[in-house]
Amino acid sequence: MAGVFITLEGVEGSGKSTQMKFLADYLRGRGYRVLITREPGGTQIGDKIRDILLNPEFKEMDYRTEVLLYAAGRAQHVSQVIKPALKLKKIVICDRYIDSSLVYQGFGRGLTLEDILNINKWATQDLEPDLTILLYIPVEEGLRRATEVYADRIEREGIEFHRKVHEGYRELARKFPKRYYVVEALGDPKEIHREIVKRVETLLKTKKRIGLKWYLLLTRWLTPRSG
Ligand SMILES: Nc1ncnc2c1ncn2[C@@H]1O[C@H](COP(=O)(O)OP(=O)(O)O)[C@@H](O)[C@H]1O
Ligand SMILES: [Mg+2]
Repeated sequence: MAGVFITLEGVEGSGKSTQMKFLADYLRGRGYRVLITREPGGTQIGDKIRDILLNPEFKEMDYRTEVLLYAAGRAQHVSQVIKPALKLKKIVICDRYIDSSLVYQGFGRGLTLEDILNINKWATQDLEPDLTILLYIPVEEGLRRATEVYADRIEREGIEFHRKVHEGYRELARKFPKRYYVVEALGDPKEIHREIVKRVETLLKTKKRIGLKWYLLLTRWLTPRSG
């Protein structure tokens, strides 16, 4: 089995960090090697880019600059952290990925989705998640949870912006039903965790089956035919 790449998406305060920790603990308990990471960030270079992106002082930032900075951090993240971990057959769980750029800079800022997707495909060498878990929560509740203590540059955008982001996530989930798993994220965190575990276990079983098929094909191919 090659590595497994899982991403978590959702508006601020939807519970991504909380559920990532629960899921990582669960999978480690089951004996899997797990790497958890987040965007923007995940590398030293990425953390510097993150500081620029989220700094509320930079009100002048052009939306295109924003797209490119996110993509630059992501390029580094994929090549330095995510791909090497997948090569070692780890389960990589990432808090936000390309879909965040599509909803925030595409649906939110109004830039063309196709452009953002192409830039990001190039930046990530076409690395797609096996599964994307969308934590779905009313915008107001997410913002209330997320900004209780501090709001970063993106979180300080108006409610209309966040509504577009929210709507954007719904669209993406409709567009990529195979990759997306939508979880209602208003309830008890433990209950949400159990739902996520069920879906992830299914994914792991499928991956194992595919791995076994390849193994059998390979051994058949390598075995000298008699007669
Ligand atoms: N299901 C939930 N119900 C109520 N509060 C939650 C739930 N999940 C997370 N929280 C709380 O909401 C806040 C934001 O959660 P967090 O996991 O940091 O969200 P995100 O990483 O998506 O921004 C935290 O204070 C967290 O403890
Ligand atoms: Mg978080």
